[in-house]
Amino acid sequence: MSNFTVCNKNDVTYLDIRMAMVKGLRTADEIKEATNACGECVGCETSLDWILSTVCRCRAVPLEAVVKAVKNGADTVEKVGEAVKAGTEPTCGKCKILIENIIAIGK
Ligand code: FES
Repeated sequence: MSNFTVCNKNDVTYLDIRMAMVKGLRTADEIKEATNACGECVGCETSLDWILSTVCRCRAVPLEAVVKAVKNGADTVEKVGEAVKAGTEPTCGKCKILIENIIAIGK
C-alpha cells in the first residue's frame, strides 16, 4: 500500500498519521496536535476518521475488531491475525507494528 497526502493544507501524509497511531495516539485531536493535520480540509474530512478507525488496509479490519480480539486474549500479532485477519496479507504486513501497539496499550 502506498503513501498519500491526507491533509492538503499542511502536507500531512497517511504514514505521518499511522506513525502517530503507532505511538498510541487514537483520537483526531491527538493526531492533529502530533502531525499538524488541520482536520478541516477535504483530505482530512474524507480520510482522517477512516484512517483512525482502520488497522489493516489490506484486509479492511477496523480498530474496534482488533481491540476486541486483544481484550478476548489475542496477545500476539499472530493471534490477532488468526482472530480477525489483520496483518495476514503475505506481501504486506505493514499494520503489524500498529497491532503490536494495540496489544501493548489495549486500545
Ligand atoms: S495493511 Fe497490509 S497486511 Fe495489514
